[in-house]
Amino acid sequence: MAQEPMHQAGHESTQDVVVELQDAVLTITLNRPAKKNALTDAMYGTLADAIGRADSDAAVRVVLLRAEGDLFSAGNDLADFSRLAEQIAGSTADQANTELAVAATTESAEPAGPSGPASGITGQMNVWRFLHALAACTTPIVAAVQGKAVGVGTTMLLHADYVVLAEGAQLITPFVDLALVPEAASTLLLPQRIGHVRAFAMFALAEPLAAEDAVATGLANRVVPAEALQDTARQVAAALAAKPAGSLTATKRLMRDAEALGPVIDREVAVFTERLAGPEAREAFAAFAERRSPDFSPFS
Ligand code: COA
Repeated sequence: MAQEPMHQAGHESTQDVVVELQDAVLTITLNRPAKKNALTDAMYGTLADAIGRADSDAAVRVVLLRAEGDLFSAGNDLADFSRLAEQIAGSTADQANTELAVAATTESAEPAGPSGPASGITGQMNVWRFLHALAACTTPIVAAVQGKAVGVGTTMLLHADYVVLAEGAQLITPFVDLALVPEAASTLLLPQRIGHVRAFAMFALAEPLAAEDAVATGLANRVVPAEALQDTARQVAAALAAKPAGSLTATKRLMRDAEALGPVIDREVAVFTERLAGPEAREAFAAFAERRSPDFSPFS
């Protein structure tokens, strides 16, 4: 079998996200197990680059997304969220001051809204690049998921084409518990896949979706014993890599309305950013850091 160099064609690894190209399969491994593969801005950057390049590199026929450790991903790094919230609040305050100054001279200032400075910051973030790269990707994506997949750990799976779950895996999207809203076009894709009421329960009540239910509702292909997870996913990736690549990507392109997903991602990001900078979200992040339950009662 042909062995190709690990960093060929700019597929750069970092300590937390390992990218390897072998036998036409680009394996992307979340490798931050001590923090349950929580995703930082830098990790999103590596992911965005790897997925973006998969489409433009003829040597890549399949992407295999996997994770080290007992758990696929704890979602976005909550300390990163907390820092971003501070940054947005500061930037919004600066903008508001600027606008007040402009208003004082022109008497025609518009209030800062979701398309204002906050979304400007988010637009520069790697997560935004990652989500768009994922939505646009025409190379087939196989995912191998063990343990929990939380937040974006689950919503990224909505962009995968073949999902293998280990027994006991759970998909969890606690966006409302964090005083946030869903992302990654999941407000469109999750209800499409599993229906409105189940999707709402996942988003609003953080009801976990068990592996068997994920298969039954069309979110995943199969459940296998944990020890068979990686081999099964590799076999699926190898089988796809042996197919005619042009036909495969054309099929994926025909099956998905990728152009419709970009605007959904952007709409979600605008509301997400507003929520992120609000007092409820700050309470949620502080509660996680202090290992206590959040108290949302002071906020109306
Ligand atoms: N962001 C940053 N750090 C995280 C994290 C996250 N999303 N999830 C876990 N970690 C860190 C913990 O702070 C802890 O770090 P420490 O050892 O330095 O204290 C370490 O990872 C282990 O986490 P722990 O909670 O002890 O592991 P667990 O196996 O008991 O629970 C989870 C795992 C994923 C269920 C739990 O960590 C969790 O609920 N995380 C938050 C998930 C979340 O809300 N994500 C955002 C979705 S939008």
